[in-house]
Amino acid sequence: MKKAEKIYEGKGKILYATDDPDLLIQYFKDDTTCFNAAKRGVIEKKGIMNNKISAKIFEYLETMGVSTHYVQLVNEREMLIRKAEMLPLEIVVRNRAAGSLCRNLGVPEGLALECSILEYCLKNDRLNDPLVNNDHIRALKIASEKDMEAIKELALLINHLLTKFFLRLNVELIDFKLEFGQCKGKLLLADEISPDTCRLWEVGTGARLDKDRFRQDLGHIEEAYQEVLSRVSR
Ligand code: TMP
Repeated sequence: MKKAEKIYEGKGKILYATDDPDLLIQYFKDDTTCFNAAKRGVIEKKGIMNNKISAKIFEYLETMGVSTHYVQLVNEREMLIRKAEMLPLEIVVRNRAAGSLCRNLGVPEGLALECSILEYCLKNDRLNDPLVNNDHIRALKIASEKDMEAIKELALLINHLLTKFFLRLNVELIDFKLEFGQCKGKLLLADEISPDTCRLWEVGTGARLDKDRFRQDLGHIEEAYQEVLSRVSR
């Protein structure tokens, strides 16, 4: 597999073309941003850890029947992925109150939820990734009705699978973000699943093992990512 030109650079990752038109290389950077890039920094070796953590999680989900864009690891910082037409949506699943849910609705962090919450955000940095509902998505033709039904079902299935996956590692999955793309008529789970895109609390201690350590200046950031990598590699 030959790496070719850079086709996209985001805040945390770079995509490269390859000599196969159906495949891309996804490179994970150490650069870290939050609050729509209002806060920036570098987490040493984060790219290496997130590449390996995402690979483990994609491999697990594939074994459980979820189609993902993941093909294989290329090296420490890169994975081979299927090229997909990305939907301009971030899908957030919440199992316990944290982050923007607490800020927006004034509920205490850690509040148990009666049921999981599914949220959709339009991927648009200029607009600060605003929340949208099914009516916005339908009316503005952001995604088809069929895709949204499939996304809801997949997001809830992935939540069920990942909650169990992390509980076995003594970690509670508080919330997480998913992105999907279309590939040859099929929806694929894309992007990454890592401590950058999930809130992970150690069961018992409540220790934060995710990007909240960076967002909230809690320290020991690299150690938290390393801890997640060690546990998913068990
Ligand atoms: P939030 O509480 O800030 O809305 O985040 C909910 C979850 O989604 C949390 O696990 C972090 C993840 N997330 C991303 O991966 N990317 C983003 O741009 C945002 C806003 C959240």
